[in-house]
Amino acid sequence: METMKQAIMAMLAENSTPLSGEEISRRLGVSRVAVWKQIGRLRTCGIDIESTTKGYRLRSLPDTPFPWRFGRRAGQIEYHPELASTMDRAGELARAGCPPFTVVVADRQFQGRGRLARHWQSADGGLYCSLVLRPPLSPREAPLVTFAVALVLVETLAACCAVEARVKWPNDVLVGEAKIAGILAQVEFEADQVRFINLGVGLNLNNRPEVADKPAVSVCQLTGRAVDRSAVLAFFLDRLEERLARFAAAEVVADWKANTLTLGRQVTINTARGNCTGLAVDLDEAGGLILELPDGRRQTIFYGDCLHAPLTGSDQ
Ligand code: BTN
Repeated sequence: METMKQAIMAMLAENSTPLSGEEISRRLGVSRVAVWKQIGRLRTCGIDIESTTKGYRLRSLPDTPFPWRFGRRAGQIEYHPELASTMDRAGELARAGCPPFTVVVADRQFQGRGRLARHWQSADGGLYCSLVLRPPLSPREAPLVTFAVALVLVETLAACCAVEARVKWPNDVLVGEAKIAGILAQVEFEADQVRFINLGVGLNLNNRPEVADKPAVSVCQLTGRAVDRSAVLAFFLDRLEERLARFAAAEVVADWKANTLTLGRQVTINTARGNCTGLAVDLDEAGGLILELPDGRRQTIFYGDCLHAPLTGSDQ
């Protein structure tokens, strides 16, 4: 049934003129009654299909990430109106052996989670998805995948939303000092190879995040315009696939350095072993942040919560 709905939607999306029930039934090899029933079901999902004497026409394209919006990727997309967290479902699929680039996407989450066990606001309008990747990488290279994802998010925001964003260590995406996207990675290893990396991406698009402990912002707040979440996700997936196909640690590190707000800033990193404050001077080849401490020594940090010190007048 799902495949039939998808096929009908794909046909309607391709045609700006009405398509007769007869033509649809012929192309799908099913009865006209079956087509009519599916059209009724699609309408109950909120899809605006006009019915005229000439046939069916899609009045407007919903921005909901229904699988049929993703063309050749349709079979890899699992869409849910609501989930506790896309991470849980992606974890189940990954352990059951799903193919790489399987994507779980939800309109909203009621237990969305962020790094360091934080809550991730997941109201309608945002983009919340988890991707299952199976890159042929060693455990040392795996963290750089999240850096690559952050860079692809910057590219996506520029191309699809005309929003200029930057990356913050380890893998936040900011506009000015406000967070517009976050990435959560769950990695499982087998012997000396990555078994899977599940990457959760939360991107503030048409939602209005409440500012809690740290400033947050969305595309619609910045531009006053709503964006098509499916088009944004499709662009992001295409670019990420390209980027991972030519994955090279040195290139990711160089691009990240060219697009970050963190280097050159005074930062405090909260780690499990306490806080560390210093000037962020470099990123090493594994994604570790190199700090210059007040006594001149250098220290590399691999994990923690990074706070940028406020910019002073002379920094701006
Ligand atoms: C962070 O910046 O702390 C990471 C936020 C990651 C949020 C996304 S939303 C989709 C996926 N599902 C979740 O529960 N979390 C990630």
